[in-house]
Amino acid sequence: MTIQPFDPVRYKAGLRLDWDAVAAGWKQWWKTIEQGAQPVSDRLVALAKIQPGHWVLDVATGIGEPAITAAQIVGPTGRVVGIDQAPRMLAIARERAASLGLQHIDFVEMDAEAPEFPAFTYHSILCRWGLMFLPNLAATLRKFRGLLKSEGRLAAAVWGPPTNVPLISVTMNTVRHVLKVPPPPADLPGPFSLADVTVLEQTLSKAGFTDIRSEQLTVTIEWASAEAYTGFQQAIAAPIQAMLVNEPTERQEHVWRAVTDAARKHADSEGILKLRNQAICVTARR
Ligand SMILES: C[S@@+](CC[C@H](N)C(=O)[O-])C[C@H]1O[C@@H](n2cnc3c(N)ncnc32)[C@H](O)[C@@H]1O
Repeated sequence: MTIQPFDPVRYKAGLRLDWDAVAAGWKQWWKTIEQGAQPVSDRLVALAKIQPGHWVLDVATGIGEPAITAAQIVGPTGRVVGIDQAPRMLAIARERAASLGLQHIDFVEMDAEAPEFPAFTYHSILCRWGLMFLPNLAATLRKFRGLLKSEGRLAAAVWGPPTNVPLISVTMNTVRHVLKVPPPPADLPGPFSLADVTVLEQTLSKAGFTDIRSEQLTVTIEWASAEAYTGFQQAIAAPIQAMLVNEPTERQEHVWRAVTDAARKHADSEGILKLRNQAICVTARR
């Protein structure tokens, strides 16, 4: 088997399709996601010291977080822009903002690695679980720094190591085991590529950021059953869908049955799954 060299342009184009394909699933499961994820948005806006009237950029906003949380703080005298490269995710973000009557927020289709804004535009840049997917993080963080006003802050959340994030690893490990796919090299983008937070801290420092701090946050998510956990993963997990897409239907079904069996091991006596996951919030000043 020939191993193709990593091509960032192809990778990002594939990712755009992968995340678009799960946009409806994110909408369907949003309540479940936000049980654990809303506290991360709340922490990021606090770490970024967002105030009424501020201008905020949310990178890789998905269906609108933490952009919408920030928009509620900056109020109508401020402005929030959420960018993502997946147009279907953005369409749902726009629906959510409209349903909340937020008029000072825009969602724009844009590659996070090529942000098209004037220098010194934003008081803060936020990113919840997006930096890990950027192939050229060092250059991108330098660009982000250029977009911040003086004293502006970046606040981002990434996942801790797989053993501390069963939300993803119960599925990921099972799929890899059944399909006999080895773990990806540590330097390639993916959900766990910034699990060693010193890598992100050092990259921020090299990009010129100062006052760099990290803290851990537990993201607890609950499902009524192992089957519900599997349904959730089938609907929202873009990286998993990408691994399965070329497998025959029967093999996919076999993989998902194995995921349900693996998830059941984490259920309590009533069959309920409550998974605690380690997020890492990193903040830095321009
Ligand atoms: C795990 S989701 C996080 C979404 C949202 N921030 C949240 O926490 O609910 C990752 C998001 O990153 C986006 N993404 C990945 N690579 C990107 C890139 N190069 N430019 C813009 N968005 C990107 C995906 O489209 C997806 O919406």
